[in-house]
Amino acid sequence: MSVTIEGAGPLTGEITVPGDKSVSHRAVLLGSLANGETRISGFLTGEDCLSTVSCMQKLGVPVQVNGSDVTVNGVGLEGLREPEDILDCGNSGTTARLLLGVLAGQPFYSVMTGDSSLRKRPMGRVTKPLKQMGAEILGRDDGKLLPLSVLHGRLRPIHYNSPVASAQVKSAVLLAGLFADGVTAVTEPEKSRDHSERMLAAFGAEVEVDGNTVRVHGKPKLQGQTVRVPGDISSAAFFLVAASIVPGSDLLVKNVGVNPTRTGVLEVLKDMGADLELVNERVESGEPVADIRVRAKELQGVEIGGDIVPRLIDELPVLAVAAMFAKGKTVVRDAAELKVKETDRIAAVVEEFDKLGAAVTATEDGFVVEGGRPLSGAIAHSRGDHRIAMSLCVAALAAQGAVTVEEPESVAISYPNFWDTLQELGCRVSGF
Ligand code: S3P
Repeated sequence: MSVTIEGAGPLTGEITVPGDKSVSHRAVLLGSLANGETRISGFLTGEDCLSTVSCMQKLGVPVQVNGSDVTVNGVGLEGLREPEDILDCGNSGTTARLLLGVLAGQPFYSVMTGDSSLRKRPMGRVTKPLKQMGAEILGRDDGKLLPLSVLHGRLRPIHYNSPVASAQVKSAVLLAGLFADGVTAVTEPEKSRDHSERMLAAFGAEVEVDGNTVRVHGKPKLQGQTVRVPGDISSAAFFLVAASIVPGSDLLVKNVGVNPTRTGVLEVLKDMGADLELVNERVESGEPVADIRVRAKELQGVEIGGDIVPRLIDELPVLAVAAMFAKGKTVVRDAAELKVKETDRIAAVVEEFDKLGAAVTATEDGFVVEGGRPLSGAIAHSRGDHRIAMSLCVAALAAQGAVTVEEPESVAISYPNFWDTLQELGCRVSGF
């Protein structure tokens, strides 16, 4: 399958983006481990979060999905039961890694796997600390690749110094820590997204945050909650960039989560000269939320590196598109993590945007974009990666000619109504 996208003038009006993927996963997981009912609104019904729902159902948790309203009847910390079958995490790294933390503490046997992309992604970064806690995990490549079997284990608390700034690693260790007696801690080199620690505290766990270290006390009594999931800033980013680069645009993106551990994309776009304004700022279910107004403006190249990188890692492909339409050079450093996402996103950005005429070169830990060259219509491939597919579509809106994106189905991983929103904004979308 392929889809062909053509811009049709300025992007104007108001849009809402689907629920935050990270918050949606965590709401189902913690709701499952809590006592009593958890009601989630604004849940992302993308394929990744539905993988988490189906795994929790297989572990014996009643979860009802009714559009973006989800009800979880929590079974309590000790209420999960041995699954009859393999737990399929699909394309979702968050499902696999966070669930590993939960399964490591269970008194039963389980097996998990994922699709061909997920089976290539590193799981050793999670199984290593879990094994230090006493988990028994077996799998390909000495327990570093899915499929993985988790044998029943008794966990002890550790203080883990993670070599990578990864919310998935941090969350897996903290979730495992719920099943250990005593205090489990994780220190990371830079601060990654903090939804787990916020939500654990909201559900009643004792959590302490001290710089880049998070501690959780084991064996808490978690209580079901009402969770309002904000719109995903990672999904909003596609339209923030699109409206910045399509001349004459003036767009309001409503109800976007603006947790400071996620807003690197706003800081970089502002550095590039983008016209962004946060309005109606508020806090919902412990997460900062705002509407974001964006107006088209000429952008400048920038340098992106250091501790901002974990706060915008998922937005780098679409920031590369902003850089292609900016004056001058943009350099992205310290982003080697891009190589182990749904696809190697450094290679994908360099090779797929080359087909549109962009000048992007790969470096060891990022890429360099020479901005200001007009992009032309072309056929490019998503490589099965939702964020590469949507970044190509954003480029299409400001390119000279139509862009065909091959295998765009993965967009449903995080943004099921992306095509509808493009059409509502007057963009020409055909072929899906
Ligand atoms: C996520 C953490 C990030 C991010 C991913 C979602 C999460 O991954 O890229 O899309 O929900 O914890 P890493 O932990 O691998 O950096």
